Amino acid sequence: MAASPPPRTFHVKSFGCQMNVYDGERMAELLTARGMTAASERAEADLVVLNTCHIRERATEKVYSDIGRIVKEGQRKDGAAPVIAVAGCVAQAEGAEIMARAPSVRVVVGPQSYHRLPEMVAQAAAGGRAMETDMPAEAKFAALPGRRKVGASAFLTVQEGCDKFCTYCVVPYTRGAELSRPYADLVREAHQLVEGGACEITLLGQNVNAWHGENGRGRPAGLAALMDELALIPELARIRYTTSHPADMDEALIAAHGSNRKLMPFFHLPVQSGSDRVLKAMNRSHTVESYLRLLERVRAVRPDIALSGDFIVGFPGETEAEFEDTLRLIEAVGYAQAFSFMYSARPGTPAAAMDGQVPAAVMEERLQRLQAALQRSSLAFNQASIGKRCTVLVERKGRRDGQWLGKSPWLQSVHFSGEAALGELVEVDLIDAGPNSLSGQLATQQIT
Ligand code: 5AD
Ligand code: SF4
Repeated sequence: MAASPPPRTFHVKSFGCQMNVYDGERMAELLTARGMTAASERAEADLVVLNTCHIRERATEKVYSDIGRIVKEGQRKDGAAPVIAVAGCVAQAEGAEIMARAPSVRVVVGPQSYHRLPEMVAQAAAGGRAMETDMPAEAKFAALPGRRKVGASAFLTVQEGCDKFCTYCVVPYTRGAELSRPYADLVREAHQLVEGGACEITLLGQNVNAWHGENGRGRPAGLAALMDELALIPELARIRYTTSHPADMDEALIAAHGSNRKLMPFFHLPVQSGSDRVLKAMNRSHTVESYLRLLERVRAVRPDIALSGDFIVGFPGETEAEFEDTLRLIEAVGYAQAFSFMYSARPGTPAAAMDGQVPAAVMEERLQRLQAALQRSSLAFNQASIGKRCTVLVERKGRRDGQWLGKSPWLQSVHFSGEAALGELVEVDLIDAGPNSLSGQLATQQIT
């Protein structure tokens, strides 16, 4: 490959989970710190970073179709071809294959190595190709620049990786073993985010509630203690965390939902299935009963908490009766929202080799029924808010002038009209509800 001038503009496209969004932002900050600027459109960029997701087959396929599209669109207006870099979990899992299959990809960088992106891009511009998929992540965070300007709602990765090895999941292989970032680093980054404009911080981790560290006095600290420390930052109004595993819900974290006034009344706890046999085959290490008991304990300290979960339909061997157990669990919990997926066999995971793979048509039919049940549940949750006044963090402008979109404390999307500004916390009277959002009117009399 011939040498080309070093890229000056970049475009980062992130697929998949919120941690990928965080990683994408950090890559952008890293490139900016090295003097590059963000291109307004992908077609204008000298460097395109595809920050990929490997969790399900469809997510992985998107990467290859995107690479194909960029190559087909070909040369940019000025005649130069952009440097394509593939980052994220597909890079980690299929890096060598990508290099072989897509000659136009010049950089492959795994999720724990992206602090090396600028030098790898320079190598590519000099005519070479570069691949780096080392683990673990310790070096990465230390090498990233400080946080500057951010939105009103910001992500902060506190923990990465997973040791749980659910039998369907690639995360333990793509993100590696559980690793907690140090307490002091997180407190520092949270302060930077608040100085950069954030009034809400969502703590992220594949198993965020497995986070552990040592506080400033050298004492062991869990996620609850970390959130208590962050709550001391005066301008920080809201704290959230995601995603949790039932096995790591300790007493202090449950209690925090009652005692930490900045911790929002929302709890995402994936369950995956409502059948104990399926949960065992998934290696989930909890039962339906223990999951429900956990939710009860959280509800006891925070009765208005909104619950969210993740579900997989069509895990190998799942029978109709076992699927119906999942529907019953949904009825019993009353989820405010949830994510649901058809099982996708992932290369190298134990479940991919299990007997009883469920036909696609059966999975589709089950997913439809499951999603209908979840929609009924979220509609009921949202309808219960009608007539109430709630605080909304303004996150985006709506389509028409004077229309805004924001989030309630319960993570409901709220559309409203009235005088407001991005990043403000405003009081909204809730008027109408659908399964995915609420609409309302800015309260004329603001509560103090
Ligand atoms: N197939 C379908 N869904 C999956 N998830 C993880 N792995 C798979 C898979 N192989 C879902 C789980 C998890 C969420 C992040 O993605 O529900 O909680
Ligand atoms: Fe995957 Fe299970 Fe780990 Fe979640 S807990 S990341 S589903 S292995």
